[in-house]
Amino acid sequence: MAKSDYLLEMRHIQKSFGAVVALSNGCVRAKSGEVNALIGGNGAGKSTLIKILSGYQPCDAGDILLNGEKVEIHSTTEAQDLGIKTIYQELALFEKMNVYENMYVGRELTIDKRPIKWLKVLDLKKMRENAQAEIKRMGFNIPNIFNRVMFMSGGQRQAIACAKALMGGAPSVLIMDEPTAALGVKEGREIIDLMKKYRDEGAAIILISHNMRTVFEVANEITVMRLGETIASLKKEDTNEEEVVGLMTGAIDNITDERNLIGEYDM
Ligand SMILES: Nc1ncnc2c1ncn2[C@@H]1O[C@H](COP(=O)(O)OP(=O)(O)OP(=O)(O)O)[C@@H](O)[C@H]1O
Ligand SMILES: [Mg+2]
Repeated sequence: MAKSDYLLEMRHIQKSFGAVVALSNGCVRAKSGEVNALIGGNGAGKSTLIKILSGYQPCDAGDILLNGEKVEIHSTTEAQDLGIKTIYQELALFEKMNVYENMYVGRELTIDKRPIKWLKVLDLKKMRENAQAEIKRMGFNIPNIFNRVMFMSGGQRQAIACAKALMGGAPSVLIMDEPTAALGVKEGREIIDLMKKYRDEGAAIILISHNMRTVFEVANEITVMRLGETIASLKKEDTNEEEVVGLMTGAIDNITDERNLIGEYDM
């Protein structure tokens, strides 16, 4: 198999926090136009792995490859410049800010023509218009972009976090860490539909989810982590819910036949 079959590969990633080994061997990959579901029990290392990919924190060892080429990612800005966009498990919204302020925090637009050369003037009009347009384009129902996030529902918050993460062009790699955990059925469906839209446009998607129904609905490949280690990578059609849950919990030690594609990370 050519290396570049996978748009994204993370190989043998290690990460410790002091004495805590969060990742001893974290591997995950995804093809363009496909979804790889990353699953594992609480504390298995899923969020730690994808926070390394999104430039949020560095790893101690291991490789990240895009289109078969090794890349170094030192910051969230670098990740975004590589087309890697992330919707985090912790929503990271500012409660006291309104919708468009949340979307533009840290990347505020300024006016070119300014009265004093060294003075930066925020382009509030443009930020409001863009935020409104992005939300509309994604099909979210946010009634008022001037409302503060603290007064909003879980579903609305998730929609804002998505709009913020996906602003400014389609992602080539989209990482979604438990995107539907806090949502009702309808809102959860909207997020999954949005994910499918980006998938169909060619994004490589990594979806972290505890919801096996969602996993088996959308995944092409399922990657299982246990205690900081990726133990199995299986095509969806080669496995079933009972088996992957067994792998997650340890009830099934491992899969040692050719269905387990974990060896491909060494090719
Ligand atoms: N910043 C940190 N400092 C110290 N320990 C951390 C830090 N981040 C993660 N850990 C530890 O690393 C391990 C893996 O955590 P991680 O958040 O990656 O798990 P997870 O698979 O995402 O779990 P969950 O399903 O609960 O979200 C845990 O033992 C956690 O306590
Ligand atoms: Mg997590």
